[in-house]
Amino acid sequence: MTYPLRLVGDKVTVRDFRVEDVDDMQRVFGDDRVTKWLSFDSRDRSETQARIEGAIKSAQLSPRTEFYLAVTECDEGRAIGFVRLVRSGSQGEDIGCAIAADEWGRGYSTDAHVVLLDFAFGSLGLEKVSGWIPADKAKRINSLAEGGSLARLGFTTDRVVRRHEFINGAWRDCNLNSVSAADWSHRRRT
Ligand SMILES: CC(C)(COP(=O)(O)OP(=O)(O)OC[C@H]1O[C@@H](n2cnc3c(N)ncnc32)[C@H](O)[C@@H]1OP(=O)(O)O)[C@@H](O)C(=O)NCCC(=O)NCCS
Repeated sequence: MTYPLRLVGDKVTVRDFRVEDVDDMQRVFGDDRVTKWLSFDSRDRSETQARIEGAIKSAQLSPRTEFYLAVTECDEGRAIGFVRLVRSGSQGEDIGCAIAADEWGRGYSTDAHVVLLDFAFGSLGLEKVSGWIPADKAKRINSLAEGGSLARLGFTTDRVVRRHEFINGAWRDCNLNSVSAADWSHRRRT
């Protein structure tokens, strides 16, 4: 059963979107500080609404391949961001996350990744999960270095792709990073 999904972490609950999340998610999709690093430009409210409605619709498809989920504070309060994973066979692709800028640095993204990876390697039985990071995003790239938050989750860099995406009028180089089920279960045991 993958809908509706509700995954509880230490700091956040990750759950399927609801139509009531539109205003809260405008803090994410409508803020240039956040979207500057995503693969789309800032959205107005009606575009955010269409995005949420699309996520709700795709969540109910069978088989479900897209897990585009709200990140909420643990008490199931308002949505403060999203985490997303696309399932492709035994692989999880395009794992990505964004948190409202006023909430950065509180460990929400890390915790959202933990619950999503537990779900991906546990309930979905995936063998590998990968995602892209803009190569010019120094803070995020640094978190792949030893001891960094992405490294602690088990992510390592597979390759760097030059001119991977065209955003805000410019080409951007990106890193493809991944974590395997074996690495994840090892990390969860230690
Ligand atoms: C990247 C992002 C999701 C981190 O969310 P967060 O809840 O602040 O993250 P956490 O508190 O769990 O910290 C996780 C890591 O993110 C890093 N981080 C914190 N603020 C950041 C920022 N503004 N930009 C990038 N990384 C940031 C932290 O340094 C930490 O890494 P470290 O432990 O190795 O130092 C958030 O800054 C964001 O939404 N940025 C814009 C969208 C984006 O870049 N998404 C990821 C695309 S690759």
